[in-house]
Amino acid sequence: MNIPTSLTVLLIGGALALTPAAAQAPKPGAAAATTADADSEKCLRCHRDKTPAIVKQWADSKHAAMGVTCYDCHHAEPGDADAFMHEGKLIATVVSPKDCGICHSDVAEEFGASHHAKAAQFIGSLDNVLGEVIEGPIVAANGCRQCHGSVVALQKNPDGSVRKDKNGKPLIDPTTWPNTGIGRVNLDGSLGSCSACHSRHSFSKAMARQPEVCGKCHMGPDHPQIEIYEESKHGIAFRTRMDEMNLKSDSWVVGVDYSAAPTCATCHMSATRTQKTTHDVGARISWTLRPVISKKLENWERRREEMQEVCTNCHGPDFVGAFYTSYDAAINLYNTKFGEPAQRVMTVLRDRKKLTPTPFDEELEWTFYRLWHHEGRRARMGVSMQGPDYTQWHGFFEVAERFYFDFLPKAQAAGKGDVEVNKVIKQILDSPEHAWKKGMSPEDRKKIDQFYKDRYGLPTSQ
Ligand code: HEC
Ligand code: HEC
Ligand code: HEC
Ligand code: HEC
Ligand code: HEC
Ligand code: HEC
Ligand code: HEC
Ligand code: HEC
Repeated sequence: MNIPTSLTVLLIGGALALTPAAAQAPKPGAAAATTADADSEKCLRCHRDKTPAIVKQWADSKHAAMGVTCYDCHHAEPGDADAFMHEGKLIATVVSPKDCGICHSDVAEEFGASHHAKAAQFIGSLDNVLGEVIEGPIVAANGCRQCHGSVVALQKNPDGSVRKDKNGKPLIDPTTWPNTGIGRVNLDGSLGSCSACHSRHSFSKAMARQPEVCGKCHMGPDHPQIEIYEESKHGIAFRTRMDEMNLKSDSWVVGVDYSAAPTCATCHMSATRTQKTTHDVGARISWTLRPVISKKLENWERRREEMQEVCTNCHGPDFVGAFYTSYDAAINLYNTKFGEPAQRVMTVLRDRKKLTPTPFDEELEWTFYRLWHHEGRRARMGVSMQGPDYTQWHGFFEVAERFYFDFLPKAQAAGKGDVEVNKVIKQILDSPEHAWKKGMSPEDRKKIDQFYKDRYGLPTSQ
């Protein structure tokens, strides 16, 4: 960690009186508790009255205990696009990863290299056509960009100059801020928002270790990670044993500082006895389950080893190996039985000009999108994190129904009379995975009837 000289002086210089704010909330063990310099003292004195909760959140934080104050984060340089004079000091309201990175350079670098930092760059995706064009730009601002991040911009006058208020403060475009989307594009060019996980002004580690933090974005029909986690044995163990999680501990090594349950952070970010904390959340995942057809990532073996090393603090290696074997098998099943065939049908329909180049102007395109982007992801993600209901009822069940009774009939109608299209569909239905559709033997049918007779006394099921 880098500490700027002014702060080093502050921290090491010692002999500094506690500010009243910090004194109200003395930190146990905060050896380096110091006061702010005169500038920050001014901010505190006034803001204690104007925004008392901000000052209280800060006063209870590690930053306050370490003497990091308002002006350390909010100070601006002349020439910063959003800088303004405020009570005699040049400040900015938006604090970016670049600002945090002055002291937390390692974290800022790791975060900057992650997929999280690039999340606002989705122009060109089908999702963006849906949000920005088909639904409308304001939906994208209030929906997509609250998770992915906005491109923070200033308001402009008709002549192109920046609009300012009567005190000379540049006005931020309200469709772009407030925003704590994970890949926010900041005015200083840096990417992301640290308060996506460390809410201001407490900026706490303990908070970010809890699953709810990730759940703001990792939820819903197309990536229900929080719902899957909550129904998994891991989520249940967390919820029922939260007071044994030692969340506020400075060191948080699985198997050393806690053992009751893993959270999202445990598996994707936090330290083990051999791995450091990482702010690159992709570091330990081997597949990407997002596209139509799942793919193994570059260096997937190493990534997988790192995740397995987390698991083996709580499980035996054979147990973990067995989980990964059935996980891979389920992803391969989804790919070969549903993802790849559906993609082949869409490709031939498009090649044969049975679909327009415009996405989403034909119902089949919505059906296909639901198949892979919603139901197909739920099935795959359910398996990856042990959510049985998401794997089955919200997952593969809905994939199968969509594929056989919605997608294929619509594709057949769209490609009616076209030899090439019919050939592809026939090939798919002739393959062994789909052979069940050709009919069941009378003996097997009898077994079903017998089951319902034995259980409920009914003559038959359906
Ligand atoms: C004399 C009182 C006073 C002092 C001193 C003061 N502020 Fe403020 N500050 C306010 C008030 C009132 C507001 C809300 C209205 C406004 O934006 O001016 C505010 C707003 C802000 C905002 C939000 C601006 C926005 O765009 O919404 C920030 C950030 C801020 N202050 C930081 C600081 C920092 C950092 C310092 C110390 C360098 C400081 N303030 C000193 C009174 C003060
Ligand atoms: C560790 C860095 C840090 C410190 C210390 C800090 N802030 Fe902030 N502050 C932020 C961040 C981050 C935001 C969120 C702005 C954004 O990036 O969207 C913020 C936002 C704000 C806002 C505007 C947003 C709102 O919710 O209205 C005000 C006002 C503000 N800070 C005042 C203060 C005051 C007063 C202090 C001192 C008690 C302070 N800040 C200390 C990082 C800091
Ligand atoms: C002027 C230096 C400085 C700046 C700027 C700064 N920090 Fe810190 N931060 C520290 C110090 C010192 C600590 C305590 C040592 C540690 O835990 O690494 C700390 C601790 C933290 C912690 C751990 C808190 C805990 O619960 O133990 C988080 C999270 C954090 N900072 C986030 C941020 C974020 C986000 C920003 C920008 C909005 C930021 N910091 C800006 C100096 C700074
Ligand atoms: C509730 C928060 C949330 C909203 C709203 C949201 N997304 Fe996402 N989006 C995510 C998350 C989380 C992921 C990553 C899921 C994963 O990795 O499993 C994602 C993934 C994506 C991807 C895939 C990226 C890749 O590398 O494959 C694209 C593209 C995308 N979103 C665009 C959009 C667009 C455009 C909108 C608005 C129409 C939108 N998202 C709305 C949270 C959201
Ligand atoms: C995706 C959520 C997330 C985001 C975004 C995030 N952090 Fe963290 N951060 C965490 C978690 C979780 C921990 C706690 C790791 C542990 O101790 O188990 C943490 C810990 C920290 C710590 C304590 C030291 C350490 O390495 O453990 C600092 C400092 C910190 N974060 C700063 C930042 C800064 C600066 C940013 C923005 C560049 C940022 N974080 C963005 C989740 C996040
Ligand atoms: C503010 C929204 C938001 C929060 C909070 C958030 N994420 Fe994400 N996450 C996203 C988006 C959006 C993506 C997809 C980014 C892309 O590929 O464009 C993503 C992607 C990921 C990925 C896939 C990374 C990769 O390299 O493919 C993982 C794993 C992940 N997040 C884990 C977490 C964890 C763990 C937390 C909480 C500690 C968390 N996220 C908090 C929005 C968020
Ligand atoms: C017990 C460990 C564990 C926990 C707890 C956990 N995950 Fe995961 N996560 C995994 C594994 C394993 C994978 C699949 C890795 C692979 O493909 O190799 C995964 C995959 C992911 C992915 C990638 C999905 C994609 O699109 O490819 C995201 C995003 C994610 N997890 C987010 C979360 C979030 C958010 C939470 C908490 C709500 C969470 N995880 C909790 C282990 C965990
Ligand atoms: C902090 C400890 C911890 C970590 C780390 C952890 N687990 Fe678990 N896991 C548990 C606990 C506790 C249970 C519940 C055991 C029980 O109910 O008897 C469990 C249960 C399971 C189950 C059984 C699910 C069921 O419904 O019966 C599987 C599979 C599993 N874990 C896989 C993994 C994988 C894979 C990883 C790493 C990606 C992992 N676990 C990481 C603690 C952990």
